[in-house]
Amino acid sequence: NDKVYTEDRRGQFHFSAKRGWLNDPNGLVFFNGQYHLFFQHNPYGTNWGNMHWGHAVSSDLLHWKELGKALYPDESGVMFSGGAVVDSNNTVGFGKNGVTSPMILFYTAAEKSWGQGLAYSLDGQKFEKMPNHILDKITAGNRDPKVIWHGPSKQWVLVLYVEEEQEQHTMQIFTSKDLKMWTFASKIKGGRGNDRYLFECPEFFELAVDGNPNNKKWVLTGANSQYAIGDFDGKSFHPEIERLFSQYGRDYYAAQTFSNEPKKRRIEIGWWRTHTNQGNSAFNQSMSIPMELKLKSTEKGIRLFREPVTELQKLRKEKLSISRKKISSNDSSLFQHFKAELAELDLVIDPQQAKNIQINVRGLAINYNVSTEELLVDNVRAQVPLRNKKLALKLLVDRTGLELFAQNGEVYMPINYNFDRNNLTYELVAFNGEAVLESADLYTLDGIWIK
Ligand code: FRU
Repeated sequence: NDKVYTEDRRGQFHFSAKRGWLNDPNGLVFFNGQYHLFFQHNPYGTNWGNMHWGHAVSSDLLHWKELGKALYPDESGVMFSGGAVVDSNNTVGFGKNGVTSPMILFYTAAEKSWGQGLAYSLDGQKFEKMPNHILDKITAGNRDPKVIWHGPSKQWVLVLYVEEEQEQHTMQIFTSKDLKMWTFASKIKGGRGNDRYLFECPEFFELAVDGNPNNKKWVLTGANSQYAIGDFDGKSFHPEIERLFSQYGRDYYAAQTFSNEPKKRRIEIGWWRTHTNQGNSAFNQSMSIPMELKLKSTEKGIRLFREPVTELQKLRKEKLSISRKKISSNDSSLFQHFKAELAELDLVIDPQQAKNIQINVRGLAINYNVSTEELLVDNVRAQVPLRNKKLALKLLVDRTGLELFAQNGEVYMPINYNFDRNNLTYELVAFNGEAVLESADLYTLDGIWIK
């Protein structure tokens, strides 16, 4: 079908399933020279249901090739979310036929048994489920196992989302030497009921602060990306600061990071709800761009930052650079020579006397209120504190919407938006006083599907 990947509402540099519904990224892992992206998938329709694990591979985190489904529903349930690892020490003994480092997937068999299952693969293409669950049902609301290797205690650690009495959400930690036998170690309380703190899809990792390998901290997140920072002794997580936010987007959910990343980067992909089934499309929803996570010190304390992976720069085509230009309210011609459907904009703006700054992206207004330091995009708000009095923005524009990074990734806002296909214009204006555009690098971007 020629129409596949060129549909009006198909993200041109964001992963989406060829057909059917997609939600959470699952089992993000680097294995045998390729990045593997599994995902919650309904192959039979464009709405949620019949959960399978879909599967795609990439060698550069950008160009994805969708393979056959990896996990199918079975008598113990449908296939809910989970993670993956490479068992490089063959601790579980699944390696055979010369393969010493098999790929291991962890999933929830939901709606029937509610047990946590394990599947392995020697080639990254065919998957074999272990007949017995590695963890039996705790409550009907337990799901989304994420497994990591903990070097200092030489054991595997599994974090599981568990709903308990009175709708108390907890993240429970289990440990194992062989990936099969798991022992309960501790739990952390999240929110209750509608309070979505530490709700679904745990992600747990250690990162150097400001790139300093002697100062590492642990980060625990739930599906809405709200997070805690603290220490981990191999059994218990000790949060030092909780309930932080770094993403203020529209419908960014269930983000997960890659295990076994060859460059030791912490790379995240999230489910970006882009409502792409409009106009009878055969597919629905998409993923975010892959982003590198970093912990950085700010005057408020340590915070999680996101930036698009450097691989993304390979999609850049034409470049237009502008520097040291006045931004005013009566001249919106600064970007008049830039026209693009797919684009990356890197802007550094000094607000000076201006009270408001507006960037118009193909008809979508991004408003920055200088005195309240608030960014407003299509009714979504974020607090973007001025650093050295300058506003630094990176905008990625695709058919399905906009991903905005502010202050070098301290704020991330994915905004789904139905752009007018005929509007390819960009504008920059300042209100109630003049501002200065210190620098702008504007790029047109290539898509990923058609070579
Ligand atoms: C999060 C989630 C997970 C679950 C999956 C089912 O979006 O609800 O908790 O495993 O989706 O598709």
